[in-house]
Amino acid sequence: MVDVKQILSQMTTEEKIGQLMQHNANMFIDSSAAVTGDNSNKLGLSQKVINTVGSVLNFCSSVEMRTIQDMHLKNDRNKIPMLFMMDVVHGFRTIFPIPLALGCSFDPNLAARCSEMAADEATAGGVQVTFTPMVDYVRDARWGRVMETCGEEPLLNGMMGAAQIRAFRGKSLSDKTSMATCVKHFAAYGGAEAGRDYNTVELSEHILREYYLPAYKACIDAGADMIMPAFNTLNGIPATVNFWLMKKVLKEEWGFSGIVISDFNAIGDLERHGITNDEKTAARLAFENGCDIEMVSNTYTHCLKELIEKGVFTEEQLDDAVLKVLNLKNNLGMFEDPYHGADIQENSERFLTPEHRATARKAAEECAVLLKNDGILPLSPQVEKIALIGPFADNHEIIGFWSCNGKNEESVTVSEGIHAAAPNTEITVTRGCGNLYDDCDRSGFDAAVKAAAAADVVILCLGEPQNYSGEGNSRADITLTGLQDELAAAVANANKNIVALTFSGRPLALTELEKNVRAILHMWFPGTEGGSAAANLLFGYANPCGKLSMTFPRAVGQCPIYYNHTNTGKPKFFPDDKHQPYASNYIDCPNSPLFPFGHGLSYSNFKYENLELSDDVLYNNSKIEVSVTVKNCSDTVGKETVMLYMRDLFASNSRPVQQLIAFEKAEFAADETKTFKFNITAPMLGFWNNENKFVTEDGVFQISTGCADRLILTENLTFISNAE
Ligand code: NOJ
Repeated sequence: MVDVKQILSQMTTEEKIGQLMQHNANMFIDSSAAVTGDNSNKLGLSQKVINTVGSVLNFCSSVEMRTIQDMHLKNDRNKIPMLFMMDVVHGFRTIFPIPLALGCSFDPNLAARCSEMAADEATAGGVQVTFTPMVDYVRDARWGRVMETCGEEPLLNGMMGAAQIRAFRGKSLSDKTSMATCVKHFAAYGGAEAGRDYNTVELSEHILREYYLPAYKACIDAGADMIMPAFNTLNGIPATVNFWLMKKVLKEEWGFSGIVISDFNAIGDLERHGITNDEKTAARLAFENGCDIEMVSNTYTHCLKELIEKGVFTEEQLDDAVLKVLNLKNNLGMFEDPYHGADIQENSERFLTPEHRATARKAAEECAVLLKNDGILPLSPQVEKIALIGPFADNHEIIGFWSCNGKNEESVTVSEGIHAAAPNTEITVTRGCGNLYDDCDRSGFDAAVKAAAAADVVILCLGEPQNYSGEGNSRADITLTGLQDELAAAVANANKNIVALTFSGRPLALTELEKNVRAILHMWFPGTEGGSAAANLLFGYANPCGKLSMTFPRAVGQCPIYYNHTNTGKPKFFPDDKHQPYASNYIDCPNSPLFPFGHGLSYSNFKYENLELSDDVLYNNSKIEVSVTVKNCSDTVGKETVMLYMRDLFASNSRPVQQLIAFEKAEFAADETKTFKFNITAPMLGFWNNENKFVTEDGVFQISTGCADRLILTENLTFISNAE
């Protein structure tokens, strides 16, 4: 460790401001120039300013990172190493399932294992800070960035985010395989109107506090080093300069003392938001609302010094921000090893190890969700003829958006996985059609129908391309793209034994497909080992155990659709397929989703029994133990996530029809019975009221197990706050 205060005392104001700048790697050095050592200035900034820059993003490899760092240390008078940051979202070179898929595992330990391995590879690749976890709460599948979240459940989002933070940070940040983390995007980026990325967010404070804010808070409590404000406006004010959000909530209420980093050009975007077209005002608004590092735009470089000279900010305020950056560098051990263990080779031996691949396969198996199965699955490995049809039948592009240094060609395709798992089966592979939204070429249909007619079983591999989700990639229509539904119908005319294997970065409206197939196994974007995992699940070498962490609608018009909705004053009582006049429903579509939150089938058969409460009255400081017995009534080993829900029947705010308050996942041997115990305390039954106070109100609460729209067992308890 070095004495950072001592370093700070030697720095000029310009040098300090430099620490608050983050720039793209290509601004420092052209990759080709890396070889010659020619530092071409792409910034339009003076070399003197470049020499002071504090951190870098968007670099390619550890070799590039080392080159830039070396050059920098040669030029920087203060010899302060730069930090190299990247979005290590679901793996670095070995790619694990996308976060939305990981949510479906309901297993924070699994998320932690994937993050530990990602940190091992990313540090070898020259990254010291990851812009993860992303814990934006979301209810709208049209939004492209749903793939980066864990879905529509605040408790789950917070637990997954916190697990990732602990895993990335390791025992000590100075360990060479540990990384600093940045929770994002604060706040409510997932509430974008109409599911269109970057769009306006208008939310009441109690909804924000109840659903959107808790996961960020959980990540801060878990030790997040940095936080990134969201791109969007929140109730009219861009998050980056939103006083209520950045100062009142983040700093005053939560006491966050880490680094705030703007998102990419977000301070520059203030002009487009219609807040100011004056750089000085933009810099002032961002800095006074607590933004420490400016990503990519240059308002701090251009204006902060003048703002200090004019007395708008004090040198001490600047020092506070700079000290946070220097401290992080110090904690990461950058002054001793400015490469933080980055490999000298571009292709580190720490990448894609057998252990990492094995974990990626296991994770993909645990994240897949068996949406439908009439008994056709698992397939026998002795099946004689399989027709493997569809745009994902033999496609390496299954690693998903934000896949860092992952390479498509290093992934196992479904075809490769199935050939390896069923070596004696005759397998015909044919694409059938493409999957771009405007694909209209039917020329592959005949071959697909012919292969289907000749096969015992058809495995139909469909979905949206991997770049149809992720940043900027929202969709107005979330059905299968192109002619895929039509392909499924044509194939079903030739052979009814169809298993659909589906791929996506968001919940899809699979209503048409569901009619034509006997099973649907949803793989999301499963990562490097996706094909092996799919094959293991199809043939029963692995047992599906994923449960949806986000609702699958029947039609895009139902969006936003989510399990924890309120009842309304005119709920529907008629059967779901029948329109009820003067009720909250649609004329042309049931209210229910196609597949609800919490849904996910297994090859085992789990039965729930004996939901018991240790007492039926709960007081302020007491607790009630809930127990439920779950039996695996099958001879197949399997995992089940047992979920505990509650409903506050009457309260001053209309409360959701269901709310998850606890869950536990466990493995069951054949015929094994297990009893699960959960404690219920008063805060678990509370909510943010319209005065924005967290309260638990007296009354009756339903406690249930099962999944969101299929509660299996329910018992009531009464909460009394002021017991005599
Ligand atoms: C923009 C994205 O919104 C953010 O999530 C990401 O961390 C930055 N770009 C840096 O890549």
